[in-house]
Amino acid sequence: MALTGAGISAESGIPTFRGTDGIWNKLKPEELADFGAFLRNPELVSEWYKHRRQVTRVAKPNGAHLALVEMATLFPIFAVITQNIDNLHERAGSETVIELHGNIERNYCLGCGKRYDGEEFDKNGSFKCNECGGLIRPDIVWFGEMLPTDQWNAAEAAASEADIMFVVGTSAVVYPAANLPMTVKRNSGKIVEINTEETPLSEFADVSIQGPASEVLSEIVNGIKEFRRDAKK
Ligand code: OAD
Repeated sequence: MALTGAGISAESGIPTFRGTDGIWNKLKPEELADFGAFLRNPELVSEWYKHRRQVTRVAKPNGAHLALVEMATLFPIFAVITQNIDNLHERAGSETVIELHGNIERNYCLGCGKRYDGEEFDKNGSFKCNECGGLIRPDIVWFGEMLPTDQWNAAEAAASEADIMFVVGTSAVVYPAANLPMTVKRNSGKIVEINTEETPLSEFADVSIQGPASEVLSEIVNGIKEFRRDAKK
């Protein structure tokens, strides 16, 4: 399985949250990724997510997303668990994607629950429901909110059975997602971390590889294929 974070989409041109160019270094999460902030200023928060949808829609899945699609063909079971809301694993073609923090393309009305999905929503141009006038929010997890139970349960089940977890492009500091590698270890699985920098997980990982996700994952996929070809000889 793979656990991914914002770093896997960095090479697609989507900014990460932490680090020197990170979003949270320039903007305050409590003004943009918080339910209270949304109620105080729905227009601002809605505009921010509309902007982020525009950024993610023009972005294309990169070699790292594609390597994980190929990786899934090499194992009987392979799940991608992502903290990203950018939809790029799905667009790359990954079939089993567990979304811990939701998906920016899904939205729903706080009043009546009506769903507003995809580009049609932004074309309408309003953050108010056309049925009941309620506020429409993105179906994502904001600070202080619970993770979707079905996705979290699926992630924990996958982690407790995993032989190996590739932890790709995450600072590994946001809980509960950051607990999943511990679940793998407790059940005798191995952790391979891929990140351009050291993280709190690095010393705990069985292998920690520093480098851009697209290059490292492509090399790992090629290595597995070569190993299997040699084993058949
Ligand atoms: P972060 O921005 O915290 O971390 C991104 C990580 O990716 C860092 O450790 C970088 O070193 C690494 N990185 C950057 N470019 C890379 C590349 N090309 N290849 C490999 N690694 C690279 O993002 P997340 O860990 O995803 O939550 O953040 C977790 C959560 O915090 C997000 O889901 C979001 C945020 O607040 C919510 O919105 C609920």
